[in-house]
Amino acid sequence: MKRIIAPSILSADFAKLAEQAVMVEKAGAEFLHIDVMDGHFVPNITLGPCIVKSLRPYSSLIFDVHLMIAHPEKYIDAFADAGADIITVHYESVSDMKGVIQQIREKGKRVGITIKPATPLEAILPYIDLVDMVLIMTVEPGFGGQSLIESCLEKVRALRRQYPALDIEVDGGVKTGNIASVYQAGANVIVAGSAVFGSDNPGDVISEMLNKK
Ligand code: DX5
Ligand code: ZN
Repeated sequence: MKRIIAPSILSADFAKLAEQAVMVEKAGAEFLHIDVMDGHFVPNITLGPCIVKSLRPYSSLIFDVHLMIAHPEKYIDAFADAGADIITVHYESVSDMKGVIQQIREKGKRVGITIKPATPLEAILPYIDLVDMVLIMTVEPGFGGQSLIESCLEKVRALRRQYPALDIEVDGGVKTGNIASVYQAGANVIVAGSAVFGSDNPGDVISEMLNKK
């Protein structure tokens, strides 16, 4: 499958978000991964719908909004209205998954579902036919710059075997040095935060990530 790079603005300079979104788009990224954290579901706070709305006019990237928040159903409409294209919710934070999937669909957005490293793939198997993308976390959600947990790639392999055409995203600890193995495991949408924005040449990192065999 075609490889898509989704730079995570969590590691960007928040004072220059628009500029950095334009830069990664020029460098060949197709998604912009937007990490939303609430200080409850994860021990960190990032940004809300107003930032997504402010950024929207500067970018034609697919806004890939990763909700690491409690009660995501309270905020889905606001993120949809702000300009999200894909809204991904954590299995661990949702009590009525079918209802949440329906809510995102009613807003006309693509639906993603995600699991933390300790959650087995089996937990989300009942929902996969209802979503557009599955995000397999390869770090504990909350912070950029952590190391990829190799054992999580086993979930990617298992999922790809069962779903040859599904968008499978991997998030956490992906670098130029391990992106080939993440892609070979079966991920076609690959998030990279610190690898891209921590570099002096983010554009070069994105092209290397797109082409690394
Ligand atoms: C972690 C976030 C990630 C993070 C990845 O909770 O979901 O998207 O930005 O950062 P890196 O690529 O630095 O591991
Ligand atoms: Zn993320």
